Amino acid sequence: MTIHEIRTKYLKFFEERGHVVIPSASLLPENDPTTLFTGSGMQPMVPYLLGEAHPQGVRLADSQKCFRSQDIEEVGDNRHTTFFEMLGNWSLGDYFKEEQIPWMFEFLTQTIGLDPQNLYVTVFRGNAQISKDEEAVGIWKKVFSDVGIEALDVDFSERDGMQGGRIFYYDETKNWWSRSGTPDKMPVGEPGGPDSEMFWDFGMDLGIHERSEFKDLPCHVNCDCGRFLEIGNNVFMEYKKTEDGFERLPQKNVDFGGGLIRIAAALNGNPDIFAVDAFQTAKEALESLSSASYESSPEITRSMRVILDHVCAATFLIGDDVFPSNKDQGYFVRRLIRRAVRFGKKLGIDTAFVSEIGSLYIREYQKDYVHLKQKEDRILEELAREEEKFSKTLLKGEREFEKMFSQKGKISGEDAFILYSTYGFPIELSEEMAEEQGQHVDRTIFMEEFRKHQDLSRSGSTQKFAGGLADHSDATVKLHTATHMLHQALRTVLGEHVEQKGSNITSDRLRFDFSHAEKMTQEQIQAVEDLVNQQIEKDLLVHFEMLSLEQAKERGAIGLFEDKYSELGDQIKVYFIGDEATGGSYSKEVCGGPHVEHTGILGHFKISKEESASSGVRRIKAVLE
Ligand code: ALA
Repeated sequence: MTIHEIRTKYLKFFEERGHVVIPSASLLPENDPTTLFTGSGMQPMVPYLLGEAHPQGVRLADSQKCFRSQDIEEVGDNRHTTFFEMLGNWSLGDYFKEEQIPWMFEFLTQTIGLDPQNLYVTVFRGNAQISKDEEAVGIWKKVFSDVGIEALDVDFSERDGMQGGRIFYYDETKNWWSRSGTPDKMPVGEPGGPDSEMFWDFGMDLGIHERSEFKDLPCHVNCDCGRFLEIGNNVFMEYKKTEDGFERLPQKNVDFGGGLIRIAAALNGNPDIFAVDAFQTAKEALESLSSASYESSPEITRSMRVILDHVCAATFLIGDDVFPSNKDQGYFVRRLIRRAVRFGKKLGIDTAFVSEIGSLYIREYQKDYVHLKQKEDRILEELAREEEKFSKTLLKGEREFEKMFSQKGKISGEDAFILYSTYGFPIELSEEMAEEQGQHVDRTIFMEEFRKHQDLSRSGSTQKFAGGLADHSDATVKLHTATHMLHQALRTVLGEHVEQKGSNITSDRLRFDFSHAEKMTQEQIQAVEDLVNQQIEKDLLVHFEMLSLEQAKERGAIGLFEDKYSELGDQIKVYFIGDEATGGSYSKEVCGGPHVEHTGILGHFKISKEESASSGVRRIKAVLE
């Protein structure tokens, strides 16, 4: 069965059960500052899960495009992609477990014909506040028993593995779902609930577990060996996080999410999701471009999977108007394309190929995603342009490498760093080229150089962007923390276009320049002042974390500049005002510090002047009284 057929059958199944089928929302979330991309089907549904009335009713279904940037490094195995479609159905305070579980079982086993013998499920084992999901277990037992399977429920134990069970109880690290993960990570107001996941067993015959690195431990449904594949998750979303625990939402919701290509892989009986139909033409093109077959070696399989996923993701992202750039979401598109080009090189592809692969995906998906066809020219142009830009970088780097090599007969860690910092030539490529000459690049030296440079550029950036601190006196440090809160308050009141253009702080006052075209009104000034003072009164804790550029972006930090070092997992310092674990951070900003430890000591914040600094840039002077 093709993914088109599965998708169609799924939507029809739920339409027949009173659901309105809605189109996929954009990969770029609307009005949701908590995340950069739509990473699950429920994200666009949050207001309705919380109780707002959805214009299309209380039963909805869709196939939602999703992108998970955090999975980028995982791609290459048989089951991870950054881009995927999530089949979803929702009950917004309408039906609950009694309907959802039998429907899912019917859809999987009858509509598309998966053998129930190979289906396993997990449920929430309960915690101090929320009880064990015996209700779900009872329903699962019944649906299995109706097809002659006695489903035994057992507590999961790493040591005992399957224990002859079909239904497994897991704790909240596995069987609780919210956008932010486990209950303790949820900010106040966030919806979540226990869930029941469904797994497909590819069977013992393939010897997947026995050949894996986990072979010495007993296998179980959540084992990382890959024998079992999670194909869907029924979330029973009926709770909302409060200051000291949970309260019930005004309604009981169902949030189901099922991985479309994973379901197709289960139907194929092939644990490699890249064997699903949607990837086939692109895969064949890669095979012919590289004159290598997909299966020829684990290395080749991995490189092809990376390209297959990344180009597909980039195609869909550009289709939603996210263009390659150094900033925000565009940064990920750039990274996807550049990684694809590098893995193409590994495969020995020496012509441009990214837009060709992109065009194959457009052909593959245009029936279900008409906008891809409509925007085809632009998508292909963007893919080709980014590939060309990066190829030039690589070419220049290669020439320099050869020059250096012929002069010295080797490439030192320092040389590799020069290639990297001057030409953007990735260290991995220096290493590969050196190895071709029977040489070796000293990565430790490279990293030392890298860190030296990083410290220099960081202090430069701190001066220019976040710092400009006259000294590190108490008064100055307080004003520095106030500057971060002012920055955030300006973005809240005036909009996200507000960016820092300059900052200068003495012990008497702060001065902050930011992009904004018009003079601020008295009301806006008042609103900004009030916001900052409210945060001061909350006495928020201030702390910093060292994060990779990617993590910083993912967590919504502002003040990001140069991403030159990000490819290497460079760590940058991000200051959080207010703890994310308890109620969310008010401000998250890349900065060298220093800052106060908690906001309560700042006193009263007052804007003393608002004026023009230059064209399109306003300047605020403010004091702490
Ligand atoms: N929202 C649930 C998930 O993403 C269905 O797994």
